[in-house]
Amino acid sequence: MRKPLATTIILVAAGAAALAFPWTRNMYTGPVVLPQVAPRVPVEDAIAVDGPQILDRLSSQGLPNPRPNTPEVRDEGAWLYDVYCAICHGATGQGDGQIAEHYPRMPNLSAPNVQNYTDGWIYSIIREGGPNMPASAAVMSVDERWALVHFVRTFKTPNPR
Ligand code: HEC
Repeated sequence: MRKPLATTIILVAAGAAALAFPWTRNMYTGPVVLPQVAPRVPVEDAIAVDGPQILDRLSSQGLPNPRPNTPEVRDEGAWLYDVYCAICHGATGQGDGQIAEHYPRMPNLSAPNVQNYTDGWIYSIIREGGPNMPASAAVMSVDERWALVHFVRTFKTPNPR
């Protein structure tokens, strides 16, 4: 008669103890924002995705290229160019990439009108894209885009590659 009661007490006690184990509440105490808790404050100088646009094409025009024009930086730009641009503008910038024929006009990046653009202007074209050109703001860092600008300049003279 005593035995079942003792077993029951032990089982209930063990169950209660098990609920108190740390891992039973893992899903609740994770790094997520809990219900009724205010979200974390954004870091200083964070820009809201729907906030004001700080730079546009015109205000980027006069920006100096902060990266040095060295072979290493141009190589970095060349790599990015091959990945993101060559398919349209062609390996040497002539506007003859694999899919160029599907566009009404694929610009030749060695053309004087392009080479006469300021660094900041080319930088902003890369960042924002165009009606038929994808924006690279989300796929490249600021530094990478500036390295690419140096590389686009190499199309001016016969391509060193
Ligand atoms: C999907 C094809 C495509 C890709 C990829 C692409 N472009 Fe373009 N690009 C265009 C087209 C088309 C234009 C002409 C403007 C327009 O219609 O958007 C253009 C315009 C430009 C211009 C201005 C040319 C002018 O005559 O004013 C530059 C500079 C340029 N692209 C550089 C780049 C660089 C650098 C990359 C790589 C990050 C790149 N583009 C990736 C299609 C592309």
